[in-house]
Amino acid sequence: MRRAVCPGSFDPITNGHLDIVVRASRLFDEVVVAVLINKNKATLFTVEERMDLIREALSEHPSAPNNVTVDTAHGLVVDFCRSRGIQSIVKGLRAVSDFDYELQMAQMNNSLAGVETLFMSTNPQYAFLSSSLVKEVARYGGDVSGLVPDVVLKQLRDRA
Ligand code: PNS
Repeated sequence: MRRAVCPGSFDPITNGHLDIVVRASRLFDEVVVAVLINKNKATLFTVEERMDLIREALSEHPSAPNNVTVDTAHGLVVDFCRSRGIQSIVKGLRAVSDFDYELQMAQMNNSLAGVETLFMSTNPQYAFLSSSLVKEVARYGGDVSGLVPDVVLKQLRDRA
């Protein structure tokens, strides 16, 4: 069984993340979207809210993949991989600026546990997109429709 994890903060999930998860679901038998808990990082949505938003976004997606689950993890992503029999981490790369840090993490994760990281090029439509920018634009009343799943859009509007 080929399993992959798409780890992240997902505060909140964007259409860029969703595109990577759906594309990964076509390459692996099982994909786990793991919401990593970082106690040092203030978030807009709770872990449970972020997980629910991901689940709803997946169920509303035209592909609605049935081999994707959503989970949460503390600590190292490689420990999560070990505990679930996951061999690969899938990450989206938006630009060269993402590459340095992602490469370092990929090499560290491989050296820690032999876990492979596969980089998928972000859909150019979403190359400029990040959860932080989405939150900032939404906070000041900007239009983020088309950049986030509809369920996320609704939540951002309710909180603005
Ligand atoms: O969405 P983000 O915040 O860019 O995701 C970063 C994340 C959560 C994928 C990364 O920080 C991570 O893997 N954190 C888990 C802790 C860990 O394993 N750290 C060592 C990485 S080499």
